[in-house]
Formats: sequence, structure tokens, C-alpha cells
Amino acid sequence: MKPARSFASDNNAGVHPEVLKAINAVNQGHTVGYGDDPYTQSVVLKFKKHFGSDIVVFFVFNGTAANCLSLKALTNSYHAVICAESAHIYTDECGAPEKFTGCKLIPIVPQNGKLTVASVANAYHGVDDPHHVQPRVISITQATEVGTLYQPAEIKALARFAHDRGMFLHVDGARIANAAASLGQTLSKATRDLGVDVLSFGGTKNGALGAEAVIFFNPKLGHDFLYLRKQGMQLASKMRFISAQFDALLTGDLWLKNAQQSNRMARLLQKKLSQIPQVRIVHKVEANGVFAKIPRKAIAKLQKRYFFYVWNQEQSVVRWMCSFDTTEQDVNQFAKLVAETV
Ligand SMILES: Cc1ncc(COP(=O)(O)O)c(C=O)c1O
Repeated sequence: MKPARSFASDNNAGVHPEVLKAINAVNQGHTVGYGDDPYTQSVVLKFKKHFGSDIVVFFVFNGTAANCLSLKALTNSYHAVICAESAHIYTDECGAPEKFTGCKLIPIVPQNGKLTVASVANAYHGVDDPHHVQPRVISITQATEVGTLYQPAEIKALARFAHDRGMFLHVDGARIANAAASLGQTLSKATRDLGVDVLSFGGTKNGALGAEAVIFFNPKLGHDFLYLRKQGMQLASKMRFISAQFDALLTGDLWLKNAQQSNRMARLLQKKLSQIPQVRIVHKVEANGVFAKIPRKAIAKLQKRYFFYVWNQEQSVVRWMCSFDTTEQDVNQFAKLVAETV
């Protein structure tokens, strides 16, 4: 029998009980729809406590929408978005960012999952040339798609590069909680204070049922977002149930506890796996993901017991993710099986 919890993805986990409780708590009587309800208004205040009173924040259903709508708010169709070749917006959103914005995405080969100022500078060209798309946004992912982290100085440098050229810095923060927890930062220190302009703030991988937010640190940039969100079919009529999820995550630092737990379990998994000579960890484990090169023939055998994704078929690299509900016992059991199988 397959175990109850696997290492396939942090969105394979269930919903944190506190989130379910919060959803249930707002399931009382009738209230106004589309976000004009008191629950949503009070959660917006919580976001403002974390990020500053001048932010504007909007809730959406999923991360792809948070990214696409963020980019849409920052661009016209003749603009370009510079991102890592491994970015979710480039590889995993079925072309939705291109379709929705009309923009060209310029992919860069990342180093350890990250863009650098030098690599972005290399892609920054064609400015004022009517034959060329105009670079407008740098989009980075924190934590990265390979479980590494941008250090604060690296984000600051990318923000400076962008702002010096009239561009914006967008962060896909599907796992921003993991990044902030790992780096010991507040949510604001991890984003706004480094010069980020717009953040896709992830709730779902952090224990929500399905809730993401788009946060504009410069309210002017979010001016038209009300309309973009509706056109993007992301305006929830029963908004209170999305708001309630964020209420739970932002109460008593549940966001932090959940992120710390998944990060801790990834470090434990790394520790256990590093004792197995046939397993090589290929990226620094800085958040909640472990990327490992394992013998090719072991993959299918392991997948019979645990579902997970092969990250790079050619290189025989697999991705193992930990979640807020991953336990030490889960890790020990899985590491034991890996040791026996490879
Ligand atoms: C880096 C990153 N961004 C965004 C998302 C959100 O995607 P979805 O539209 O599935 O919620 C994911 C989910 O896998 C992700 O890993």
C-alpha cells in the first residue's frame, strides 16, 4: 500500500486544519460578495500589517493567475518579461502569461535556479528599437523552482537593475513563506524591503485550500487590477472563503510555522539521503525541495511505492518536496526505502 503522504509536491498535501476551521468560521449566514465583506476587509488589514499600510492586495484562485495578472498589470503587449528558463511562468503555465499579456518571455539559463544581474544585462537589449520588444519586467521565483534561495543582496541588485531602466521586479512567491522562514526574514523584509514591485503571494503550498494573493507595493501599479482580475475570471463571488484562508495563515504566524516545518523536513531528508552513496543532491537544499540524482533504474521502483516527479529525465534527477504536514516518520520511512532501492 502507498503511504498516506508522498514527496511529489507541496500541493499534494491536504489543507491545514486551522485553515479549514477558518473557512468554517466564516460560513455563517449571508454576506456581501466579491470582496466587499467584513472578513475580506479585516484580512486586507492583516496583509497591511505585514507589508505596510500603503499596499494594495487582491486575492485570486491560483498561482498561475497571480503571475499572469501581475504581469498583465505591468505591461503592454510590446513589452518583454525576462525570467529564468526554469520559471513556472515559462515552463508550467501552458503559455498563459504570453496569451494573457501578449508579451514575449525572454528565458535565461539560470545559475542554481537564479537570475543574476549579469545574465539579465545580457538579455536586456533592443531598447527604443521599434523592431524589438521592450524589456519591462524581471520576474524571479523565490524560493526558486529548484529549492534554492536568492539572498537579499541578489534580489536588491536585480531590483536596482530594473528600476534604473524603468523596469519592474515581479516575484513569483508561490513559496515565499519557505524563503522568508529559511532566511529568517519577515514577509516584508523578504520582498518589499528589497525593492520588489509586485508579489504573487502563495497560500496554497503553505497550507491553504486554494488561495493566492497579488500584492502591489506601489499602489499606482495596481490601479487597474480590479478590472484585470475580473477580465481574468479570478474575481471570487464568495470571496470570504478565500479571505478566511489567508486569515488563518496570517494569524499566530501559521504561515511561518508551516514553512518552517516543510523546510525542516527537507533538510532532514537531505541529511538522510546524503548518507547514501548512490544518491547525489544536485542543488542546495535551502527551502522545502530536495533535488537528487539517483540511479535510473531505481526511479520506477521507487515510484511504485511513492508518487513523485522526475525533474530531468536525461540526468536522472528527481524532485522530492516536503509539505507543512510532512513528518519525521515520513522522511525516515522514505529515506529507508531509497537506501534499500538504489
Ligand atoms: C513556482 C510556482 N509558481 C506558481 C505555482 C502556482 O501554480 P498553480 O496555478 O498550479 O496554483 C506553482 C505551483 O506548482 C509553482 O511551483
